[in-house]
Amino acid sequence: MKLQLLPAPREIRAVNGASMLSAATPVTVRQSDSLPPEGYELALENNRVLITAGDDAGEFYARQTLAQMIATCGGECGNLVIRDAPALPYRSFLIDCCRHFYGVDEMKTLIDAAAKCKLNVLHWHLTDDQGWRIEIRRYPLLTEVGATRPDSRFGSVTEGKPHSGFFTQAQVREIVDYCAARHVEVVPEIDMPGHFTAALAADPALGCTGEPVAVEMTAGIFPHVLCVGNPEAVRFARDVLDEVCDLFPGRYIHIGGDETPRTAWMGCERCRARMEKRGLPSFDALQGDFIREIAAYLKKKGKTAITWNESLKGDQLGAQDVIVQRWMERKPLTRAFAKAGGRVIESDFYHYYCDYPYGMTPLKKSFSFDPFKKCGQAHAVFGVEGCLWTEYVRSFDDLCEKLFPRLLAVAERGWSGFPTRSYPAFLEAVEALRPQLAAGGIPMRQRADWDLPALRRLPDIVRFFKGSLTPEMLRQGLFPDSGNKK
Ligand code: ACM
Ligand code: ZN
Repeated sequence: MKLQLLPAPREIRAVNGASMLSAATPVTVRQSDSLPPEGYELALENNRVLITAGDDAGEFYARQTLAQMIATCGGECGNLVIRDAPALPYRSFLIDCCRHFYGVDEMKTLIDAAAKCKLNVLHWHLTDDQGWRIEIRRYPLLTEVGATRPDSRFGSVTEGKPHSGFFTQAQVREIVDYCAARHVEVVPEIDMPGHFTAALAADPALGCTGEPVAVEMTAGIFPHVLCVGNPEAVRFARDVLDEVCDLFPGRYIHIGGDETPRTAWMGCERCRARMEKRGLPSFDALQGDFIREIAAYLKKKGKTAITWNESLKGDQLGAQDVIVQRWMERKPLTRAFAKAGGRVIESDFYHYYCDYPYGMTPLKKSFSFDPFKKCGQAHAVFGVEGCLWTEYVRSFDDLCEKLFPRLLAVAERGWSGFPTRSYPAFLEAVEALRPQLAAGGIPMRQRADWDLPALRRLPDIVRFFKGSLTPEMLRQGLFPDSGNKK
């Protein structure tokens, strides 16, 4: 059998002779201070395996490599030495548990698969317009009201039943511990000041008008945002983050900042008063000012805030204030942020959004994405992330088939850097991993579906848009400008 590893290790050197390799092969582990974080060496010789690791994560990754070696090259395997370490420190996958709720067991299945391919961050999208999915003890209405919507009407599909679910704090801790055992850091996302309808459904006083709203049942961008001019509403955000920081021991908290319409702020005395008082020239600046305030609050608690690229628009954020996650932007503000010394996570919509059909985002397209070139400053790329949003993902099997193998392309880039092996060689490694993923409960579509020929891509795309677009969305425009004028 041929040795197949994913992600591709930095260096594999063949050594004379062969060894018997199986789960029973003796493994010795040594620590070494001279290896980089998460790095390891693995030697197979004399029917034994010797792992040298710089830290616990390095040993964990050596063992993942060994498991893939046994699965693909078990029996007699040529002796070898592998020297390996990741290109990027932040290798992430996003799961949106808001639009469709996926619970503890499903999360564990995904975490296992991600850890197998050496991803080390779970970006857990826990709050949005369509559901608040994390228990906050101080504000029980967030989940009593915000975790349930009466129906789901995403695109042309009406599900005709309520949709509900949230993670208790005990379950959150269970997931955090499960991740820690697999060297995965959990980055929770509490999306603010937009994508906030579920919170306003629980407490309308958090919004600019105080008018009651319902948890959203449709996809889109909604005007029900946090009133950033109301100190009580801002205190609510801080209170929520206090509990979130206690629950998540990791270094980073994602505070959203994407797709925030300005309409409510425009008509709000309090928001305008904040602008006046702080000398803010625009509503974009108002958002930037709010994000900077929350990031500073988190910094005092020992956490670094991550925000989507929209928060850069108002020119309020310095390179040290936040980490920016780029997904889509009209002006290259993230490049400028990187040039000024900021750290960037690349999750390009056209390449790393894994919830779109393969007709729109073929595997080869994901594989070919160069995050270093896109960012403009290779050294500023702190991480990469594959995103799985769930408006149109109604079953766990569908989730897996959309995420895998595109997430494997992200994992390869994050670990191996760019350029790496050829696409056909990557495809072989993906196929070799298929039975290992299947054994862990992850189905993948057949290979022919990953890179459809041009004539079959079009119907795939048309089918998706027919199912996902509504006349209202077309009227709004797909990516409406949030409005900025004072
Ligand atoms: C996003 O897709 N709104 C980050
Ligand atoms: Zn307001």
